[in-house]
Amino acid sequence: MGASAARKLWDRVTVFDGSRTWPEAMALVTGGERIERLVRVAELGPDERASCELMAGGGVITPGLVDCHTHLVFAGQRAAEFEQRLKGVSYAAIAAAGGGILSTVRATRAASEDELVEQTRPRLEALIADGVTTVEIKSGYGLSQNDELKMLRAARRLGAELPVRVLTTFLGAHALPPEFVGRPDAYIDEICKRMLPAVAEAGLADAVDVFCEHIAFTPAQCERVFEAATRLGLPVKIHAEQLSNQHGSALAARFGALSADHLEWLDEAGVAAMAEAGMVATLLPGAFLTLKETRLPPIQALRDAGVPMAVASDGNPGSSPMFQLTLMLNLACTLFGLTPTEALQGITRNAARALGLQGQAGELAEGRQADFCLWRIENPVELAYAVQSGRLRQRVVAGRITHGAPESGVSP
Ligand code: NIG
Ligand code: FE
Repeated sequence: MGASAARKLWDRVTVFDGSRTWPEAMALVTGGERIERLVRVAELGPDERASCELMAGGGVITPGLVDCHTHLVFAGQRAAEFEQRLKGVSYAAIAAAGGGILSTVRATRAASEDELVEQTRPRLEALIADGVTTVEIKSGYGLSQNDELKMLRAARRLGAELPVRVLTTFLGAHALPPEFVGRPDAYIDEICKRMLPAVAEAGLADAVDVFCEHIAFTPAQCERVFEAATRLGLPVKIHAEQLSNQHGSALAARFGALSADHLEWLDEAGVAAMAEAGMVATLLPGAFLTLKETRLPPIQALRDAGVPMAVASDGNPGSSPMFQLTLMLNLACTLFGLTPTEALQGITRNAARALGLQGQAGELAEGRQADFCLWRIENPVELAYAVQSGRLRQRVVAGRITHGAPESGVSP
């Protein structure tokens, strides 16, 4: 099943191209790794059609999905905390008692790199089976140089093993490790002077993230991490305004950040700063649902300011134990009031932009790498409307079918 130079045709398909759903039935032709033609069915001449191998007829084609914010690499699970939260104990109270992120840190430190790969693989396979072709994976459960490097290597190994593009993000400033209790600035020193340079030296991170929150790091501490990342030439992003307004998004805007993520407490000044800096607002409805938040991100203000909105799973063992990106479409619509088209843009074109991959992923256009999904549905809105697995008929990465049988000869 290697990449073939032969032209392949997906005929009479409904296409959502990352921005909009085309009103007419379309034909999509690949040549090797690229999309060669994306045309209305009537415009594909008979000779052209005859020169193609027919892959499928009918169905919906979307770009390969992009999950631009995950914490997929971790060891263990936190079901007991789920039970505590159901009894009314808050996420912040669990964190203050040494649980939460720190309980996953203990399990992740105890795991070998091989064990992390093994434990993460089914979660990544679940995303892949749901149409994901590009995924961002953060560190942040190691919180020591060796354990953070171990997490990032595990993420990169999974990207080499499975048919998915993995981008890695260093999130050393996720929580204060036990060795540094009472000395958060010393831990920030450790990140800036030792951990981050080591990660950059090993070439293991595509970006740097921080958790700016009253239960994590202050804006001044996050700023120091951003300065160090910028000196090393790494792009930055931020977990901001999730539980309170720390003005983290505006801080990130000053560093030309790729995105600010969560944003339930984002204010108007923050929206304006993000618009000015051309940042993406990454919405994480799985965390909103899991933590039973009630304050909504300022969707209308983001729309009015023209800030592109991405939607991601935030897949992690605590605040969003959800490893199905299409579920986030439904939640973004029902909980946050996005339109289905906005939600679809959020897991395609805008998610790619949040990763600095605009023009390289999340969009279907002639000349682009052929990363797309063929779905057993009639209308792209169905992906947001119904929560259902098993709708993915084919998943194509760089022109290769990586899921589903090649359906050569199936008549449209
Ligand atoms: O994005 N907000 C901080 N970090 C994660 C939660 C990680 C965890 O609870 O393990 C998040 O929600
Ligand atoms: Fe997160």
